Amino acid sequence: MIFDQLFDVKSSTYTYIISSGKGREALIIDPVIEETNKYLEILKKLSLKLVKVVDTHIHADHVSGLSELNKKTNCTRIMGNQSPSEVIDIRVKDNEKIKIEDIELISIYTPGHTKCSYSFLMKDRVFTGDTLLINGTGRTDFQGGSAKDQYNSIFNNLLKLPDETLVFPAHDYNGKKNSTIIEQKKKNPRLQISSVDEYIEVMNSLKLDRPNLMDSNIPANIKGLTLSKI
Ligand SMILES: [Fe+2]
Repeated sequence: MIFDQLFDVKSSTYTYIISSGKGREALIIDPVIEETNKYLEILKKLSLKLVKVVDTHIHADHVSGLSELNKKTNCTRIMGNQSPSEVIDIRVKDNEKIKIEDIELISIYTPGHTKCSYSFLMKDRVFTGDTLLINGTGRTDFQGGSAKDQYNSIFNNLLKLPDETLVFPAHDYNGKKNSTIIEQKKKNPRLQISSVDEYIEVMNSLKLDRPNLMDSNIPANIKGLTLSKI
């Protein structure tokens, strides 16, 4: 299997290129528009045909590469059913399958960071978007975010996955590439709480700055901005 975890320095975003092998079909999760040429070079080098691109949610901190990749490769753009995007080709609901050849991703609706946040389980690993980060969790203070929903998504859904499941988030700000469910259960400081009310209190007291360019990134992602329009 090809599993390439790429990092966009500007937005600290992880993007994943997945395929069952050289010369086969590929899928990309959470691409960043400015990195499009890098993805295309990797695809070309491995003779991969990009067929599907997935965003875990509408990003506020960067412009997604979904539409630019669609323009270049005609790949299918996929997001969750609750996404406000106007350019999505396939919308998935909770517990649906996204397939490329013998690879299968199962969608898990995990609202909280945003109303449209999804995670995707692929055998031994789960792509958690900004719902569950390594030793953190995604902020819940805009885009329909809800600390209560996020608590449910994490405690009643993601943490119920097998302990050894690998966690691959959409961002990391400390150089960590992956973790496991058991490690996050035990060590994630945000999760060392005893009730939903305590979690809501923790999230509401964060007082974070608004992401740079949030007011242009969100509409760009809803409209499906391509590089020629930047
Ligand atoms: Fe996000």
